[in-house]
Amino acid sequence: MIKTYIFDKINLYDEICRKEESELKKGTINIPEEEIKMQYDYMHKISILNQEFYHKNGRMPTARVRNFGCQMNEHDAEKLSGMLLEMGYSLVQSDEDKASAADLIIFNTCCVRENAEEKVFGHLGALKAAKRENPDMIIAVCGCMTEQSHVVDEIRRKYKNVDLVFGTQNQHTFPELLLDCMENKKHVYNTEHLDGRVAEGVPVKRADSIKAWVTIMYGCNNFCSYCIVPYVRGRERSRSSSDILQEIKTLEAQGYKEITLLGQNVNSYGLDKEDELNFAGLLDLICRETSIPRIRFMTSHPKDLSDELIDVMASNPQICRQLHLPVQSGSTRLLGKMNRKYSAEKYMEIIDKVRSKIPDIAFSTDIIVGFPGETDEDFEQTLDLVKKVRYDMAFTFIYSKRKGTPAAEWENQVPSEVVKERFERLLALQNGIDREINETYMGKKVEVLVDGYSRTNAERFTGRTQGNKIVNFVGDRHCIGEIVTVEIDEVQTWSLGGKLI
Ligand code: SAH
Ligand code: SF4
Ligand code: F3S
Repeated sequence: MIKTYIFDKINLYDEICRKEESELKKGTINIPEEEIKMQYDYMHKISILNQEFYHKNGRMPTARVRNFGCQMNEHDAEKLSGMLLEMGYSLVQSDEDKASAADLIIFNTCCVRENAEEKVFGHLGALKAAKRENPDMIIAVCGCMTEQSHVVDEIRRKYKNVDLVFGTQNQHTFPELLLDCMENKKHVYNTEHLDGRVAEGVPVKRADSIKAWVTIMYGCNNFCSYCIVPYVRGRERSRSSSDILQEIKTLEAQGYKEITLLGQNVNSYGLDKEDELNFAGLLDLICRETSIPRIRFMTSHPKDLSDELIDVMASNPQICRQLHLPVQSGSTRLLGKMNRKYSAEKYMEIIDKVRSKIPDIAFSTDIIVGFPGETDEDFEQTLDLVKKVRYDMAFTFIYSKRKGTPAAEWENQVPSEVVKERFERLLALQNGIDREINETYMGKKVEVLVDGYSRTNAERFTGRTQGNKIVNFVGDRHCIGEIVTVEIDEVQTWSLGGKLI
């Protein structure tokens, strides 16, 4: 009875959100420098222990960070890697669940869908034998999964081979927690929350030398009814525009050609701080103060994409002609139940408005298939919307029940055979659109930022257009990291091929 009531009264989520918004203090601040300095002291202490390891074993200890999540998760891994290098570890890439894989293995987890969690538990299970063989090996689990108490309980009960558990919000205290674990030879489980504070000055080892992630805000306040992220990442916390600008200027000086600004909803950047720029203002500042050739950002929530933002995008050629605008569903009825706070019509208006001001924009999106209560009609509306928008790229997901979210409690879950069939139809539709859009590139000249050698053909290079299309071409190694012009003479569903001009 109660469950049906919750399902029908979608306003409940508005209430949740109002509560969350009212709890939000306009006062996000940086963690005091002394606290960050303390972490550097812990890193130094670990580096001394690691020197001792070197004298005993004739090599520095190895560490491996394994990622399971989104771009934000990958960027978190870059910070973990920065700290590990500072502590004297040598970073390795091994994917094996063996005793010889690394002296320290960190699982940087994701919990947005069930399969991401299952993968991690699979690896932890497989490492039980490795730990018996090499009891000195340290296994750590961090990231979004560990922000759920039921997961930490399960690790405590079933995975005693795990030595250290920490969260996303206290990631900057990793050195302190690791030292505790090493010195006291004990299990450490610590997922403390970080309300209203952001950590600056943590070392970063970037995985790429051409493109860089820059987190501009942490957390999410939106509470979409299917989504676990607001529960595990906490409330929205923006970094100061001056810290962000400083980081980007450093990246520019290091020769980076592209930056992607990250946040769960970048459109609400700055709202949690006194006297801070909004997102459009931040983008404008970055464009005025730096000459980074390419700027991207994700994710933009359609409910608060402003006209000001569209104008800033239209008037700054540094900002890539690409917009990731997750729609989730084409049914206004379902969007209400998802607590997305826009209708399908409103979404189409935004698409049309952006296209009228930036005609060459490439849209991408996220879509969930099989959200509880999705009818054939709802799904047809999603297909219709996809046909109308003609996305350059769509990330499609099968709905996954997430414990603790409202939608997981609803009884009208869609049977998996129906979901699979719908998912295949959506995929086939989008693949056709991808191909048709790619065909329009035949014979055109496009600007490509070259990432490196093509993975499938060692004689070719690969890069991306502003609209994020993959382009493979024959070139020479001097073009890596440069923006070059390529004439397209080959079209595939997910990539283009061409000649360097
Ligand atoms: N903050 C971003 C999305 C972050 S999660 C935004 O609002 O757009 C990335 C995508 O995962 C979401 O856009 C959604 O499509 C998908 N997702 C989130 N929770 C999910 C769930 N429970 N089941 C399936 N897909 C989900
Ligand atoms: Fe999840 Fe994105 Fe919604 Fe936040 S805005 S609750 S991250 S889907
Ligand atoms: Fe990203 Fe997964 Fe966390 S999508 S924010 S790593 S739950």
